[in-house]
Amino acid sequence: MTNTTIKSMVQPKAEHHNQPKTIYLKDYQPPHYWVDSVDLIFDLFEDYTEVRSTLCVRRNTGIAQEQTPFILQGEELELRALVLNGKTLDLENFDLTAEALIIHTVPETFTLEITCITHPEKNTALSGLYRSKALFCTQCEAEGFRRITFFPDRPDVMAKFTTTIIADTNLYPVLLSNGNPIEQGLLINNRHWVKWEDPFKKPCYLFALVAGHLIALEDHFVTRSGRLIALKIFVEWENQDKCAHAMTALKKAMKWDEETYGREYDLDIYMIVAVNDFNMGAMENKGLNIFNAKYILARPETATDTDFQHIDLVVGHEYFHNWSGNRVTCRDWFQLSLKEGLTVFREHHFMDDITQSAVSLIEHAMGLRSHQFAEDAGPMAHPVRPESYVEINNFYTSTVYEKGAEVIKMLKTLLGTDTFRKGMDLYFERFDGQAVTIEDFVACHEFVSKRDLTQFKLWYSQAGTPEIEVNEEYHPKTQTYTLQLKQSCPPTPHQPKKNPMLIPIAVGLLNAQGEDLLENKTQILNLTETEQSFNFPSITEKPMLSLLRGFSAPVKIKSPLSNEQLAFLLAHDSDDFNRWDAGQMLSIRIILELIEDWQKSKPLKINNLWWKAHQSLLEDKRLNTALKAEILMLPSSPYVIEFLDSADPDAIFAVKKFLRKEISRRAKKHLLQLYQDNHNTERYCYSTETAAKRFLKNLCLSYLMEYPDKNHMALCLKQWKTANNMTDSLAVLGILADVDCPEREKILEEFYNRWQHDVLIINKWFRVQASSALPNTLECVQKLMQHPAFDINNPNTVYALIGTFSHNLVCFHEKSGKGYRFLADIILQLDTINPQVAARMMTAFTHWRKFDKDRQAKMRSELERIQKTAKLSTDVYEIVNKCLFGTSPQT
Ligand code: BES
Ligand code: ZN
Repeated sequence: MTNTTIKSMVQPKAEHHNQPKTIYLKDYQPPHYWVDSVDLIFDLFEDYTEVRSTLCVRRNTGIAQEQTPFILQGEELELRALVLNGKTLDLENFDLTAEALIIHTVPETFTLEITCITHPEKNTALSGLYRSKALFCTQCEAEGFRRITFFPDRPDVMAKFTTTIIADTNLYPVLLSNGNPIEQGLLINNRHWVKWEDPFKKPCYLFALVAGHLIALEDHFVTRSGRLIALKIFVEWENQDKCAHAMTALKKAMKWDEETYGREYDLDIYMIVAVNDFNMGAMENKGLNIFNAKYILARPETATDTDFQHIDLVVGHEYFHNWSGNRVTCRDWFQLSLKEGLTVFREHHFMDDITQSAVSLIEHAMGLRSHQFAEDAGPMAHPVRPESYVEINNFYTSTVYEKGAEVIKMLKTLLGTDTFRKGMDLYFERFDGQAVTIEDFVACHEFVSKRDLTQFKLWYSQAGTPEIEVNEEYHPKTQTYTLQLKQSCPPTPHQPKKNPMLIPIAVGLLNAQGEDLLENKTQILNLTETEQSFNFPSITEKPMLSLLRGFSAPVKIKSPLSNEQLAFLLAHDSDDFNRWDAGQMLSIRIILELIEDWQKSKPLKINNLWWKAHQSLLEDKRLNTALKAEILMLPSSPYVIEFLDSADPDAIFAVKKFLRKEISRRAKKHLLQLYQDNHNTERYCYSTETAAKRFLKNLCLSYLMEYPDKNHMALCLKQWKTANNMTDSLAVLGILADVDCPEREKILEEFYNRWQHDVLIINKWFRVQASSALPNTLECVQKLMQHPAFDINNPNTVYALIGTFSHNLVCFHEKSGKGYRFLADIILQLDTINPQVAARMMTAFTHWRKFDKDRQAKMRSELERIQKTAKLSTDVYEIVNKCLFGTSPQT
């Protein structure tokens, strides 16, 4: 072949019969070529987009030679032109595969101009550049940039970006990208352009582009050094009155990060765009965050208290990434927790400060125990820093996020607030503008604390939830109390044996009056050995042990306490988290006993101790409202399943139902009183205090409605008719969704008629119906899939209807297995549309081994059916193989 230049070359299709490759941390190598700058030009059309890029490239001479090829990732692209240092490349100069463009020989420094075509209008995977109705937008993390243009798509290649967007003036009046707008102009054919420049070097996963007919809510923020920052939240025109809360949240987060971590914002403009079609919650692209609309849009009539709270947290989270993620980023995707764990930690810290109570701790512990503990004990278990992956999108897990955040919380506990802050300051200073590792992060904390954190780092490399066995002894003669702790960690995939970890255990000791006996109330024990004893001198009476206060470590405790002792802590512990936790433990024990009785067809009987403990809490007038509500909730079903080897969903459901009915029947008067005391008819305004009241009040209503008699039904209907906010309306809808009565249909219909124009609210309507315990729920969900508001291409509707159903304890796990079959069918369908969404739906199957033999068999056969399907995405492929074989075939 001689001097053939290309007109157009489509990338060959990925060959699905090949097994996807496993990527290993140990194989990491620095990039062979650096990209110092990228200039991008996007020409947006209705049926294709042309992307022209100019890269300034420099060989990494330390490790690459003259003959080392330059490799750029690319997926589903059409290559139109390739010009190196002004000279068009011939076909023999490069290779084009399904995954990459390989240029055989390049000089030490050069400019490369690439022209390619991509099809956002056909992109249903919502990764790369895609359309969401009339809007163009991008999602590049983790590996979406390669679906936009050919590029060394890895986070340690950091470049300065300039971006020019050209589009139709009327259809796309707003054209956005990272950084500051520097130039704009008009063109023929009613087109216009805007050029953006981002002065900060960044990896391509932080690139973003938006084009559409949008309106902005504008505001500003003055940083503590006096710089004026323009704040803009872009939404569709009909949503312009729903951004105020998100704007307030943004300003709150900016101020908090200055005060708490000394972190200031760095560009002159901070933009957020809300989009309807988005795989995740939100994305921290530099200067241009893109959000799932559900985490921006809110008004009292349209959003619940939980929605308002999520907006605070997600806006905060993405903002905090500007330092923990963007200014200092990850060297490779194995380091994901470096930014996500740290940013979730900062988000939790923000929430603790907003809520000022143990509720924030309780919710984080509950989330971790319900999801992360199960993940850590199942086929997808992996360390906070994984050692290998097939599809990185499968590793945005609760282990990387939530356990990663808990690991940093432990670090803070071990070092103390001040030293931890010094370590954070050093981290941001030392690594600003760099792509680094978890080692680098810990090294900063070692430096400031002058401590060796080698053992602590096992938290990043060992998977599994440590278990702690406790023995206590009191010697009245010596007035010494001795606590003996034993740690162990169960085997996980590829890690049969574990080393003992450094576990900070916060303890308190109480006397018979419930008073703290230790100095400073709580003491931190550093558990470092497999078995270790701690002595407490000068303890004058046999104390009551309060262990793991404030959830000081993400571990399981085998409590040595009797039910009576747990009840005592529930009533008296000075640590609010442990009060709640003692109640949870007590309830778990009672539930497990009742499950046994139920399975032996014995009549269920209430445990008197358990009842008395709950009764006195109901009547306790001094107990903080939010805490009271948390304590009065029964443990979540996923957490109950943690304690079972062969879970029978019907048994769990029946037992929890029994306990709820007992509370309802025995405490009717108090529940009604609490309902009235916390019912508020004033104008709605979201605040943590009023939200706590609604939470408690609606919990009482749901207990009362365990007996849906005339009076209780009237109470429900009254709240339905008079509610001035979504929380109260939706509470009634959620309660009635479980009751087979004429009012149910009527209210569902009224709700739909009132809100049919608002997709986010219709998703709530899908959710209540999909979570109903009534026996025809599957049929109802199937019918709703035909509803005009359901769109299988829209992740939010899929999560709302299908995702919710897949976590419906009784109906998904219905004995015949029809729920399993239904979900497997949908996963296979979704996999051809949007692999990331399909993979997320797989979570309902991952714990199949936790259930009884019959259900196991039925879930397994669905997994096998998925596994045998040709052309699975790497996303579903990895999960299904790990579920069935504990590993992906080729490792
Ligand atoms: N960087 C992520 C978004 C992301 C996740 C992109 C996975 C690509 C793949 C973002 O910062 C994030 O973590 N978002 C969370 C919400 C957050 C409040 C925990 C999300 O989208 O769920
Ligand atoms: Zn994040």
